[in-house]
Parts: sequence; C-alpha cells; structure tokens
Amino acid sequence: MRTKVGIVGGGPAGLLLSHLLHLEGIDSVVLEDRSREYVEHRIRAGVLEHGTVELLTETGLGDRLQREGLVHQGVELRFLGVGHRIDFADLTGGRSITIYGQQEVVKDLIAKRLDDGGDIRFEVSDVRLDGLTSDRPTIAFAHDGAEETLECDVVAGCDGFHGVTRHAIPEGVLTEYDRTYPFAWLGILAEAPPSSEELIYTNHERGFSLCSLRSPTLSRLYLQVPPDERLENWPDERIWEELRRRTATTGDFTLNEGPVVERLIAPLRSWVAEPMQYGRLFLAGDAAHIVPATGAKGLNLAVADVRRLARGLVRLFERGETDLLEGYSDGCLRRVWRVQQFSWWMTSMLHRFDPADRYGPRLQISELEYVTSSRAAATTLAENYVGLPFDDGGSSS
Ligand code: FAD
Ligand code: PHB
Repeated sequence: MRTKVGIVGGGPAGLLLSHLLHLEGIDSVVLEDRSREYVEHRIRAGVLEHGTVELLTETGLGDRLQREGLVHQGVELRFLGVGHRIDFADLTGGRSITIYGQQEVVKDLIAKRLDDGGDIRFEVSDVRLDGLTSDRPTIAFAHDGAEETLECDVVAGCDGFHGVTRHAIPEGVLTEYDRTYPFAWLGILAEAPPSSEELIYTNHERGFSLCSLRSPTLSRLYLQVPPDERLENWPDERIWEELRRRTATTGDFTLNEGPVVERLIAPLRSWVAEPMQYGRLFLAGDAAHIVPATGAKGLNLAVADVRRLARGLVRLFERGETDLLEGYSDGCLRRVWRVQQFSWWMTSMLHRFDPADRYGPRLQISELEYVTSSRAAATTLAENYVGLPFDDGGSSS
C-alpha cells in the first residue's frame, strides 16, 4: 500500500488534514484505532472559534454547522454572585464563537471523506512507524486480522495525547513542558434546556463551575472537583445541588435541571512537546500539546495546526519545496504558546487552588473586576477567546 500522507489518528486533526489535502488533490490514508461508532459519539469540546467555523465552511463542511451551530456573541463571567458580560462582537469587530459539538464535526468530516472516496481504516491496531528520517517512511499496522504496511512520503501524527507516533521519535529529541493543576472537571450532559443563552464561567468560593450547552434542549455543565475524584461520589442530586450553589446570583437566573445522559471526570493539564517535527513525521493537535479546557481551545488549536501542515504539504507536493514544512513547528508553536498562556490564565483566574489560601482568591476577584470593567482587559479576553487570526507567515499559497 502506498499513499502520499499517512495519517495516524481519526480525530478532528487527522480527518480535517485528510480533507484539506484531498481538496488540493493530495491522497492520504487515515488509520484510526477505534470504531467509527466510537469516534462519532465521543463527547468532548463544544466551542468553535470564529476562524475554525470560517475554515470548515469555506472547505465545504458548513451545511449542518450553519444550520445547527449556535452563534454566541459573548460570555458571562460570574463572581461574588454577580454576572458580567464580555461582549465579543463589540470588542472584536463582530467576531463570535459557535457552539457545535466536536463529535458533530467528526461526523461531518467522516461523511465528507467517505463521500469523496477517502480512505479511513477504523479499528487498526499495533501502529508502528519506521524510516522517519528517510524520504519513504512506513507505517506498519494490523487490520482485520492482517498485517499491513503503508508506504508514505510523509507521516502525520494526529493520534492525540495517548497516541504512539510521538514515541517513535528518538529519546532526547523532544523537550516537554507541562503544568498540572490540583483539580479536575466533572462534566455532565443533561436533557434540560440551557439555563442561559450564553456560557457562564463562575468563580466561587466552593470552586469553579461552567454552564454550557449543546442545543436548545441539551445542557453541558461542569464543576471543579479534586483531581482524584470518583464519579461514584457524585449522585445526580449532589451534582445539581453543587451547581445550584456555585451558580447562585443576585440576578435573574434559574438552573434548569433534567436527566443526566452522560458524565465524565476530566483532568486538567497544560503540556507541550517541542519540536512538532522529526524527519518526515509531523505532529498535530493533542499529539503535541494539551491545554486545560477553561479556554475552550483544544480542538481549535488542532485545526490551526493541520491548516498550516496542509499548506506546507501542498507546497511540497506541488513545487517540491520544503520551506513551509521547515517552518511548520516554529509557526505552530507561536500559536500553541499563546493558547497555552490564555488557557492557563483563564484557569488560574477562575478555580480554587488551595482551600487554605486567602490571598489568591482576592487577587482573582481583583483581576475579574478589572477584566469586566476595563475595555482593554476585556478585549484581551475576547480576542483570545474568539481566536486570534491564523498567522500564515508567508504561506499564503
Ligand atoms: P483526538 O481527538 O484525541 O484524536 C486522536 C485520535 O487518534 C483518536 O480518534 C484516537 O482514537 C486515535 N488514536 C490514538 N492512538 C492511536 C493509535 N495508536 N493508532 C491509531 N489511532 C489512534 N477541549 C475543549 O476545548 N473543550 C472541552 O470540553 C474538552 N473536553 C475534553 C474532554 C476529554 C476527555 C478529552 C480527552 C479532551 C477534551 N478536550 C476539550 C480537548 C479536545 O477534545 C482535543 O483538543 C481535540 O480532540 C484534539 O483533536 P485531535 O484530533 O488532535 O486529538
Ligand atoms: C463545552 O461546552 O464542553 C465547553 C465549553 C467551554 C469550555 C469548555 C468546554 O471552556
């Protein structure tokens, strides 16, 4: 088997890369270790940046997104029991975010790739990379009980944080940077109409909470919990009680409740592996970096990576020039670190770090008061949240 770009991982990064390459006439094969059913129903992120929506729409993936996506022009920051709106449209010259579940993006991508004759292999196992420093790298894998080898020009490692491609890079090449947080998020999906049209991020003495949504009938809600917390400790009534306490406000607000249809505990982590390239292997998305979900950036960052990678690959295959690919890692990492800082900042401003610390929470309130009263500070939040423009660094071909 032979293809130009062998893509390991059929999450948003791998599937979108395959789609963008197809639009430029470049063939690829996507190898995914889970089933189609599994990846289409894995509930994760829900916020699409302005530029992500534009890119998906411009490349023919906008039909359902435009119909079902919910456009939001702002978010609320709630602290000391009072809500303060950050008006994205006003602060960023009309930019917005769109609520559309990651699994919906994945469904749209899979449908489009298969419609266009794309090659996605689900339920592969035992993926191994070889020859990464040659111009003919290979990917060995098992599929349907057979051993296969895929010869490629380039390998894209889009297999997420727990993937294998990063580990094919020899010891000593990558430098890793990380920060862990002394808390996790307990997230639920509930059959209840959203309590608010826009997202509410709450700083509360009992810990952070977030009211988000997926549709006019589905709420997505999160609570800060200890990092080693277990779901068994959180019967539904305890979850609702805690959400009610943390979202309590002097304003007009009722927390809508309903049956919990999905729940998870997700750790919060900041992590980067540099560089994002080794020989003919290019890492993209969660395979190279993770951010805590407070900034709603993980999926969007994966999109920015593969957009840049696709441009570099087009240049390689059309003109035989490697200049854009050589700048891939540095170019991505500028955005990655901007998003790292933003996600760390949002996380630091909104969570309780140490119950015994009285100083930290006072700083948080001061910062929140500043962010919600100074136009300059609010603009910083707004322009990062809706997503900074893609930086093409001379790659506009
Ligand atoms: P992934 O989506 O992880 O895709 C990688 C793919 O590779 C997967 O389909 C996986 O099955 C496959 N794979 C792994 N190993 C192999 C292998 N060896 N061989 C073949 N295939 C392999 N971000 C937010 O902004 N908001 C959120 O609320 C949010 N919640 C999250 C909750 C969880 C539990 C997780 C894990 C992440 C969450 N994120 C969130 C982050 C966001 O979902 C990711 O940033 C995004 O999925 C990155 O896309 P990706 O394609 O790079 O990686
Ligand atoms: C979500 O809707 O899942 C969501 C929204 C905003 C975040 C994180 C997750 O910051």
